[in-house]
Amino acid sequence: MSVTASDVWAGSVDEAAAAVRGRLEGRAPRVAIVLGSGLGEFAERLEDAVRVPYAEVPHFPSPTVMGHSGELVAGSLGGRSVLVQSGRFHMYEGHPAALTALPVRVFARLGVETLILTNAAGGIRRSFGSGTVMLIADHINLSFRNSLFGPALPGETRFPDMSDPYDPALRALAREVARRRRIPLAEGVYVGLLGPSYETPAEIRMLERLGADAVGMSTVVEVITARAAGLRCLGFSAITNPAAGVTPHKLDHLEVMEVAYRVAGELAALIEGVVEAL
Ligand code: HPA
Repeated sequence: MSVTASDVWAGSVDEAAAAVRGRLEGRAPRVAIVLGSGLGEFAERLEDAVRVPYAEVPHFPSPTVMGHSGELVAGSLGGRSVLVQSGRFHMYEGHPAALTALPVRVFARLGVETLILTNAAGGIRRSFGSGTVMLIADHINLSFRNSLFGPALPGETRFPDMSDPYDPALRALAREVARRRRIPLAEGVYVGLLGPSYETPAEIRMLERLGADAVGMSTVVEVITARAAGLRCLGFSAITNPAAGVTPHKLDHLEVMEVAYRVAGELAALIEGVVEAL
């Protein structure tokens, strides 16, 4: 029998998943949480944590971006077993979209059912100041990449429905947690670009007209993959800066990380509340 591209790729997911499973010491996380730029400290909140460096997971590359570590952390949060991805594989690092989404496929293979994603983003909507936390209502994929390009993997939908990429019930739960914990929570549309250069003011005006409220360089292909694999998604953007041209302010990765660190506590409280209530 001939070996297809799908077999090779599915084999990589299996190998990565087997390596991670081997380190979980019997934990069976049903929730995975992806941490964005400057949000890595969240992993410190887990109890009984086991850390799995990416170097120990076959097919996982080493992250190259300051502010992103490279490990999966399994542990307990709000009494539930969770798996945290601390460090992303961005397409702007040169990774194919499918590699960017490899951790999501691994989560699916491990039995994860709910995926919570966080990112740092620029605020396009005028009322979004630095430090705003935005619940992602929907997204626009302007990365011109798709992680499902290529053979469909076993267990995945070839043409996933994307009419509710961010689960309405999970979003309602997030709003409820925010209200109870008195955490201000905005809501809007995230547009994902390839990066790594930030946008020009003309691009931001264009994105505003297209209906985007926040702009970043991640998340969309992970959500696409998660939906193909049947995972429910919830996403939050930490608005770290007004997008280019919204104010005369210049953009800088260090400042993005500083602001992300500042809002990390609020975001963590929201995620903890959601996970507890799942
Ligand atoms: N643009 C794109 N990505 C970002 C930004 C931005 O302004 N801020 C943080 N990530």
